[in-house]
Amino acid sequence: MLSEKSRPVIEQTIGVIAERIPAITPEFYKSMFNARPDLLDGMFSRSNQKNGTQPQALAGSIAAFASHLLNNPDSYPDEVLSRVAHKHASLGLLPEEYPTVHEHLFGAIAADLGDAATPEVVAAWDEVYWLMADA
Ligand code: HEM
Repeated sequence: MLSEKSRPVIEQTIGVIAERIPAITPEFYKSMFNARPDLLDGMFSRSNQKNGTQPQALAGSIAAFASHLLNNPDSYPDEVLSRVAHKHASLGLLPEEYPTVHEHLFGAIAADLGDAATPEVVAAWDEVYWLMADA
């Protein structure tokens, strides 16, 4: 469940985050594959990266998860989580990789939002990311 502290911050920023995802996503992947080129060999599909559909899926699903938490505070979007978990498990993805995506995704968000990425905003979205990753 989203904390009472984060809820109003997510309410105020979900619009801008959702709107900026198309701009944030390429920077996130560029930064991550620069640091971890091995993830492009065997883990992420190169053709999916090229056609640009999957790249939006990851960050987009976090905004969708946040929106679910705002509208249904007592539940998780189980179907979506199950689909993502099955996909990740089929790829042999380990929990240890979640900090990798976190680091590069939040780096790209902070760079895109600039001064709007206040510590309060970053902390609230951190909470959403880890709720989803842990689920
Ligand atoms: C909270 C963090 C994460 C979220 C919300 C997330 C979300 C998603 C979503 C929505 C999909 C598409 C599933 C489908 O096919 O319907 C996906 C696929 C995928 N995810 Fe994640 N993911 C996360 C973390 C990670 C991490 C840490 C890695 C690896 C470092 C990863 C690697 C992949 C890969 C390789 C695919 C398949 C897509 C492709 O072939 O390009 N994900 N993820």
